[in-house]
Amino acid sequence: MNKIVAKGGNELKGEVNISSAKNSVLPIIAASILSSGKCVIENAPMFEDVFVISSVLESIESNVFIDKDTNKIIIDSSNVLNLQPDMDLVKKMRASFLIMGPMISKFGSFKISFPGGCNIGTRPIDLHLKGFNALGADISIGHGYVEAKATSLKGNKIYLDFPSVGATENIMMAAVLAKGETIIENAAEEPEIEDLANFLNKMGANVIGAGTDTIKIIGVKELKGTIHKPIYDRIEAGTFMIAAAITRSKIKINGINEEHLKPIIAKLNEMNVDIDVIGESILVNAKKELKPIDIKTMPYPGFPTDMQAQMMGLLCTVEGTSFITETIFENRFMHVPEMKKMGANIKIDGRNAVIEGVDKLTGCQVRATDLRAGAALILCGLAAEGTTEITDIYHIDRGYVNIENKLKRLGAFIKRIDK
Ligand code: EPZ
Repeated sequence: MNKIVAKGGNELKGEVNISSAKNSVLPIIAASILSSGKCVIENAPMFEDVFVISSVLESIESNVFIDKDTNKIIIDSSNVLNLQPDMDLVKKMRASFLIMGPMISKFGSFKISFPGGCNIGTRPIDLHLKGFNALGADISIGHGYVEAKATSLKGNKIYLDFPSVGATENIMMAAVLAKGETIIENAAEEPEIEDLANFLNKMGANVIGAGTDTIKIIGVKELKGTIHKPIYDRIEAGTFMIAAAITRSKIKINGINEEHLKPIIAKLNEMNVDIDVIGESILVNAKKELKPIDIKTMPYPGFPTDMQAQMMGLLCTVEGTSFITETIFENRFMHVPEMKKMGANIKIDGRNAVIEGVDKLTGCQVRATDLRAGAALILCGLAAEGTTEITDIYHIDRGYVNIENKLKRLGAFIKRIDK
C-alpha cells in the first residue's frame, strides 16, 4: 500500500512554487465541452482529478490530449456525442457532475449517474437541478440517474438557497447558450468562479459579475476555442503557509494572489505569524510564539473549509484553547481521530471542535480520510516527534502535485513509499 513517511523536527527553508487551482481547472475542463473549437489549458496541474475528468470527456467522444511535459491540456469537443459518461468515473469524482450544465447547454438533454457523496458529506445537487429546471429543463431522478430534458433553454432569474460553488458553476455553464438573460442571485463568490467566467468570456460568452453574489449571463449563439492559464491554487498555497507555521519556519511561496489568500493571511496574522506579500509571492515567518484563535469556515471571502483540517493540525501545536466551527460540510472532522492518535487534544461537539494545544505530537501510523485531511496529517507529521506514516495517500494525490517533493525541497524529511 502506498504511503508517505514524514519525520518531524526539521525546520523548513527556501521557496516553493504553487500549481494552478484544482477547483478552477476541473470546471474549466468541463466548460470546454461548450466550445465548437479547440481549447488549450496551460500550466495545468497533473494530478488524478484532472485525469479523471479528462477521461469523462473522452467517454463522450471529446478529444483530450494531456501533455505532461508542457503541463498543457488540449481539448477538442467538436465531435462530442450525447452519450452517458462512464458511470464508474462519475462516481469516482463528484466534480464530474460539472459536465451536466455544458451538456444540457449543448444538447438540450442529458443523462448522468447521480454523483456520489463522499467522506465529507452527502454532497446534494438540489441547487444545480433547481437552476437547470428554471432554465426550462425537465428533471427526472431514478435508478441512480439524473436526466434533464429541454427543447431549448431560456434565461431566468435563479436564487440559490446556499452559495454553492458547483451549482453556481453548473448553472452558469447551462445559461451561456440559453436564449435571453439569466441572473443568479446569492451566487458563490469564490475566485474559481471568476476564473471560469473569464474562460467562458474568452470563448465568446457574456458573463458579468462573477466573483460577486449576483451573476448575469446573456446567452450567445456559439462559443469558440481559446487558450487559458488558470489562477494559482489558493488552497495549496494555504497548505504551505501552514507547513511553515507548524514547523515554526520561514519560507517563500511563489504563485499567489494576495486577494484570494486574505482570509488565511488574516487568521495567521492573528496567531502572530509574520506575513509579507511581494507581488505574486508571499513570505511566511513563524518564528514568534503563536497564539490560539477561533476559526469559523464560511463561503468565500470567509475562511475556506478546504483549509480547516490544515489549520486544526496547526492549532494542535499552539499552547492554549482554540475553537473551530465547520459550517459548510456536515462531516469534515474525520482527521480528528487520526490527529488524536498523534496525541492531539481535540473535543468535537457536532460542527464545533475545541482544541487544547499540546507540547508535542508523536509520530505514528495514520490514515488519510479525504484530500485535505491527508494534507493536514502530513503537516502534523512534519511537526511531530518521531516518524509518521500516512496511508491511503490516493486521497492526497487527487489534488496536490508532488506534495512530498515540494516539501522535501523545503528541507522536510519526507518520502513516498510505493508498494
Ligand atoms: C466545491 O465543492 C469544491 N470542489 C470543494 O473543494 C469545496 O470544499 C466546496 O466547493 C466549498 O468551497 C470543487 O470545486 C471541485 P458546494 P462543491 O456546492 O461545489 C451544499 C476540495 O477539497 N449544497 O459549495 O461540491 C453542500 O451540501 C474540495 O478541494 C447543497 O445543499 O461545494 C455543502 O454543504 C472539497 N445543495 C455546501 O452546499 C447543492 O445542490 C457547499 O457545497 C449543492 C451544495
